[in-house]
Amino acid sequence: MNYEELLRRTAAGAAPDTAEIARLLQAPDEAAEQALFAAAYEVKKEYCSNLVNLRGLIEFSNICTRDCLYCGIRKSNRKVSRYQMSIDEIVAAARCAGEFGYGSVVLQSGERSDPEFVEQVTEILRQIAALPWDLGVTLSCGEQSPETYRQWREAGAKRYLLRIESSDPEIFARIHPPECHYRDRVAALERLKTAGYQVGTGVMIGLPEQTWEHLAADIDFFRRMDADMIGMGPYLPQDDTPLGVQHPDLPGMAEQRLQMALRMIAVTRLVLRDVNIAATTALQAIDPESGRERGILAGANVIMPNVGDVAHRRDYQLYNGKPDLDENSAQVRQKLLDSLARIGERPRFNAHGDPEHFFTRMKQR
Ligand code: 5AD
Repeated sequence: MNYEELLRRTAAGAAPDTAEIARLLQAPDEAAEQALFAAAYEVKKEYCSNLVNLRGLIEFSNICTRDCLYCGIRKSNRKVSRYQMSIDEIVAAARCAGEFGYGSVVLQSGERSDPEFVEQVTEILRQIAALPWDLGVTLSCGEQSPETYRQWREAGAKRYLLRIESSDPEIFARIHPPECHYRDRVAALERLKTAGYQVGTGVMIGLPEQTWEHLAADIDFFRRMDADMIGMGPYLPQDDTPLGVQHPDLPGMAEQRLQMALRMIAVTRLVLRDVNIAATTALQAIDPESGRERGILAGANVIMPNVGDVAHRRDYQLYNGKPDLDENSAQVRQKLLDSLARIGERPRFNAHGDPEHFFTRMKQR
């Protein structure tokens, strides 16, 4: 079967196997790549027309107990000044998302699981639930116990993002510290499903020694996990991390990883269809003018603009080149609206923007 035929069949709903997914990712030329993006964008429009779901992103603490080899806020990076926003600051940021009509917020932080942290998050969730806006709340706070996941769910969180980072156990082991286990990550994802969350996962794209076959296996992992949401972006070396020092960027590599990431978005959309897929900030870090818009045109349907104070933005740099470091949330919002309008897309205001997949998955249980 030639590429065109494989793409046509997949776009029509046939389920490709992992080898076929790898072929789809490796569009042989520019025209094939454009056809891939166009087909994925059509499927995106089938599920949410020309609307993009927004989530106000609140990076509420960079204190982290983990030492992931790629991440700028890893525990042993002494160059980072650590912060934790107060509950009032966090709720004010959520209020800002409500006022902007974003409909949902994402609370993201470094990983901690001490009782004080668990209680703080619970209190934040309760206060956000009491706000006059009906906000869909997503958490992105790493691996936690079943009890913690349950407690946060009951306090009002409905979605959880926990990336597998790479579905290949060997790559996973190479980029994580020894105490961080692949099987624990998978178990945490299962736990989140049991606790009733809409579950999001994802990977970094363009990691050292990662091949198209690995990336195809990642998409197959999302399918087997029955994920509701996918967040993935290009890997970006961070100067103060072991991985970043070991494998510094050569000219052209960032643009290449951006291209790989866009293909991953497109093929993931074609294979998983009714899930939410984020056009992540990492795309924008490589192409500040149109990274996220290119993500939407390749099949993504979610954007997560920052809300809240710019004060801490510099201290939450997971990678080099984070965009919008000095722009306040109103400026971020205006820029986003303008750039969406340029590609003929509109934000879906004042809605949670749930992925259809979650409801289908619930019915099948
Ligand atoms: N490059 C790209 N993405 C990164 N993340 C962390 N560090 C980097 C990096 N150097 C991503 C991880 C994590 C998410 C919050 O940020 O995938 O899950």
